[in-house]
Amino acid sequence: MKLIFSLLFLSLKLFPFFHPAIARGGARTSNTSGFMDHSYVGGWARHLFEENQFQKLDNLAQGYMTNSDLEKAIKSFGQRCANIARIYSIGKSVRGVPLWVMEISDKPGEEEAEPAFKFIGNVHGDEPVGRELLLLLANWLCDNYMKDPLATLIINKVHLHILPSMNPDGFSLRRRGNANNIDLNRDFPDQFFPINDDVDVLQPETKAIMRWLEEIHFTASASLHGGALVANYPWDGTRDKSKNYFGCPDDDTFRFLASVYSRSHYNMSLSEEFKGGITNGASWYPIYGGMQDWNYIYGGCFELTLEISDDKWPTANELPILWHFNKMSMLNLVASLVKTGVHGRIFSSDCGRPLPASVAIKGINYTIKASQTFADYHRLLAPGGRFEVVATMPGYKSKRTHILLGEEAATVDFVLDPEITPTGTLLRSGCDCSCDNKSRLRLVGFLSGPQLELSFILILILILISMFLCFLLKRRTIFTYLKHRQSVGQKRSIVV
Ligand SMILES: *[C@@H]1O[C@H](CO)[C@@H](O)[C@H](O)[C@H]1NC(C)=O
Ligand SMILES: *[C@@H]1O[C@H](CO)[C@@H](O)[C@H](O)[C@H]1NC(C)=O
Ligand SMILES: *[C@@H]1O[C@H](CO)[C@@H](O)[C@H](O)[C@H]1NC(C)=O
Ligand SMILES: *[C@@H]1O[C@H](CO)[C@@H](O)[C@H](O)[C@H]1NC(C)=O
Ligand SMILES: [Zn+2]
Repeated sequence: MKLIFSLLFLSLKLFPFFHPAIARGGARTSNTSGFMDHSYVGGWARHLFEENQFQKLDNLAQGYMTNSDLEKAIKSFGQRCANIARIYSIGKSVRGVPLWVMEISDKPGEEEAEPAFKFIGNVHGDEPVGRELLLLLANWLCDNYMKDPLATLIINKVHLHILPSMNPDGFSLRRRGNANNIDLNRDFPDQFFPINDDVDVLQPETKAIMRWLEEIHFTASASLHGGALVANYPWDGTRDKSKNYFGCPDDDTFRFLASVYSRSHYNMSLSEEFKGGITNGASWYPIYGGMQDWNYIYGGCFELTLEISDDKWPTANELPILWHFNKMSMLNLVASLVKTGVHGRIFSSDCGRPLPASVAIKGINYTIKASQTFADYHRLLAPGGRFEVVATMPGYKSKRTHILLGEEAATVDFVLDPEITPTGTLLRSGCDCSCDNKSRLRLVGFLSGPQLELSFILILILILISMFLCFLLKRRTIFTYLKHRQSVGQKRSIVV
């Protein structure tokens, strides 16, 4: 009797370890060595399993949008909410289905000095809850703009990009992989192992995401999955493939962001399997070639992998309640981009030009870049702590400042001075300020004149005047830039 009980107990204890393999991971056996996933595909037994699975999921698909329903829903959203939305495609799936994105902002399609967030749903074809919830999210934001403070904040201060389905082919095939049966969440270049290094042979869906990150400077993102209830954060893999906690340089920030999601959720944080409803990917089970780590490493984008329902494919009548459970989480996660962290812009002191400089936090081995156009940066950080923020740009002297970050976001603008080389010339020149050229021209003109002594005094006066004018001009330019800055969380603003 005792033996039976302890066996029962053991199997209950073991259950969570098998469970996740069905969720985020690929292998449906307990062998979860990441990129070995394809080994189980194929074979007669597998084929039968897939047929049955297809039948089952096909019945469940009732009430879910088909791919053409989804396209219609996205386009009609774009028309209905044209004032705050723009619809565009980032590419096509293997079978040529466009990967439609809804951009939501008060100035959609325009570049602003604001952070951008992206949501990606349906990475795995048989996890369709995300694609439905993302349409509900977009419509809710549209309906509540200027009515609900959170909706208004997100639309005014963030550019939110939503890709409801990254894997429309997998959805119509009712399976995890895409039309080539490749798991898209194993198809990205990896930091530890030389897999997927040849970008040319990656899946079109993967390439579309990679191009997207080159075009848009995302601050953070989340992909939506099903099969568990937990907010997963980097790293997803370990160097030696062991299943151990392996935090990235921004572990604190990621734990904070994941907790924003789980704590705002109806009951994610009550999880018995995952403390606080969050987990480090590698400590749950390591995967390689995942999208999450790739975003953080190569895209400067803080990405979470969200498992939003225990059931991968629940019946459609559960969708309203799932939306209800996840709504505040989704909104709060996007809003955390402006409610927390350090934000600002970076200018050159010689002519007030925006500088696409790098921003780092002392003690955290990670660098983000300010945007090319406006030189705005958005450095997410866990609230409550002292940080030293460092701005660097080749040709300019670095600047650093200490901030005490409370619950609110801080604004820190940097004005960097050009580096002076030993010969006295500016390393970095070529800004719009033409004072230097003009005074030099006058100098040449005077020196060729006959009354050298008088000229010398006049030259001195002229130089002083032009220096003063130049100074005024520069100050004004910087001032104008700062005034037009679309600052976020304006409560505290520092110029360094
Ligand atoms: C997983 O499978 C691979 C290849 O079949 C094998 O080499 C490895 O030892 C297995 N790992 C575990 C944990 O069973
Ligand atoms: C959350 O609530 C749902 C619906 O009531 C339930 O099925 C699930 O087990 C709950 N999960 C946790 C972690 O409490
Ligand atoms: C910082 O991270 C890079 C990889 O991004 C690594 O090559 C380097 O060794 C790290 N430096 C320190 C001091 O850990
Ligand atoms: C200054 O003069 C140099 C050489 O005469 C020229 O190449 C440069 O474009 C000028 N810069 C400005 C800002 O006018
Ligand atoms: Zn998944």
